[in-house]
Amino acid sequence: MVNVYSNAPVDETERQLYFLEELKKKISTINESRDDKLTCHVTTFGCQMNARDSEKLLGILKEAGFIESDEEEKADFIIYNTCTVRDNANQKVYGRLGYLKNQKKKRPDMKVALCGCMMQEPSVIEKLKKSYRFVNLIFGTHNIFKFAELVYRMLDEDTMVIDIWEDTDKIVEDLPVDRKYSFKSGVNIMFGCNNFCTYCIVPYVRGRERSRSSKEIIREIEKLVADGVKEVMLLGQNVNSYGKGIENELTFPQLLTEIEKIDGLERIRFMTSHPKDLSDELIEVMRNSKKICKHLHLPLQSGSSKILGVMNRRYTKESYIELATKIRKAIPDIAITSDIIVGFPGETKEDVDETIDVINTVKFDGAFTFVYSKRTGTPAAAMDNQVSDEFVKEHFDRVLKAVQENAKDQANKLTGKIMEVLVEDVNDHDSTMVTGRLSNNLCVHFKGDSSIIGTIKNVKLVECKDFYYIGEIV
Ligand code: SAH
Ligand code: SF4
Ligand code: F3S
Repeated sequence: MVNVYSNAPVDETERQLYFLEELKKKISTINESRDDKLTCHVTTFGCQMNARDSEKLLGILKEAGFIESDEEEKADFIIYNTCTVRDNANQKVYGRLGYLKNQKKKRPDMKVALCGCMMQEPSVIEKLKKSYRFVNLIFGTHNIFKFAELVYRMLDEDTMVIDIWEDTDKIVEDLPVDRKYSFKSGVNIMFGCNNFCTYCIVPYVRGRERSRSSKEIIREIEKLVADGVKEVMLLGQNVNSYGKGIENELTFPQLLTEIEKIDGLERIRFMTSHPKDLSDELIEVMRNSKKICKHLHLPLQSGSSKILGVMNRRYTKESYIELATKIRKAIPDIAITSDIIVGFPGETKEDVDETIDVINTVKFDGAFTFVYSKRTGTPAAAMDNQVSDEFVKEHFDRVLKAVQENAKDQANKLTGKIMEVLVEDVNDHDSTMVTGRLSNNLCVHFKGDSSIIGTIKNVKLVECKDFYYIGEIV
């Protein structure tokens, strides 16, 4: 018999396409011996980048011959793409694994794979090896491109297959992807993060910052547009530092300018922007653009310069306000949204007051508010002035209230206007309605059916329901 492994090509894209072919043969043989076809289900636990990775996993599985199952419960192969940014993300995974452990007793042929950010933590791997022996395959964020090969091994071997890399400088292009939406898509422009905010685990589990080549990015978007995509979301932990450290590479504003030229592409979004690296050049490009959406996600984290310093965010309360004011002046109809953490070590009532002051001054159009979560290995976890649960209980709601009040006021300003909406879905609760998004990211619900999904319509914003609109097509 030929040895599949020793015959594998060395070039990584070729190698994975080779294993994909081998996997196809294997799946087809298995399917011949069964009444129905093997099914799979991928669950995303994390951010947009995690979701984009799930599309890559599903792309490989479908190409290999798996059928996507709507229900995780019934799938033959279950994949959890995990997140570890806050402890509750981890707890969710352990909870679901407990359930799967029982399921596996009833369905011993079922296979389970774990991947994503949580798998880059050595303590997690130890715990899985000890208490979750039934898991078939474990891999991390740096070798996700090897999925075809790893699934092949999983089906070939009877033991728990574990493959975790500490870091990588590799970016492997041209593997299959299965998009969740036909008309919009995430596009990675960079991986990893170099910022080391003291509370954050992302740099440890995603590795150092690596930008993709602008040629590859543009080629991917051109292909997506030819395939019907109207809106792209450029993804990176800090898109404003795109291209840094690479000779002759474009800057982020230059990249946007090139992407704007792609015929047929209608909307460009991006996230996330770190305030410290947001240039005047970017504001100028956004101001003059016909395609870049009127939305900027600009995480504040805290409004206290003292806390921002300890967080290693490298901006102050004053410089953040100055930046947001400059952006609002240049682009008056832009929505600015944010991320805020409550309960960082050493935070006092006065620090929270400063955060609320920034929320009211900048008038955020929306913000995610998070309770600080201690992440082992980060500098903040070792600080000896952790705050109490009582402190968080007392102050979290104050921050949330300020966020919600400003978001309502901002949303209400648009009542009566006619604006473009990209239709995304049939409404969950009322099948005679559709749901879409304004350029500024607000949701609008209006009468319509599935035939207009993926098209841009002019819609009158009739009634503001605080955080979304009921509209009428005009
Ligand atoms: N790169 C992005 C953020 C990615 S993580 C940026 O810097 O803007 C998304 C959000 O999770 C962060 O903005 C932060 O608000 C929150 N977050 C990260 N680590 C956290 C922690 N340990 N506890 C609570 N929230 C955290
Ligand atoms: Fe985490 Fe800071 Fe990097 Fe964002 S910029 S991913 S918060 S370390
Ligand atoms: Fe995203 Fe969570 Fe990883 S937020 S980068 S999936 S830790």
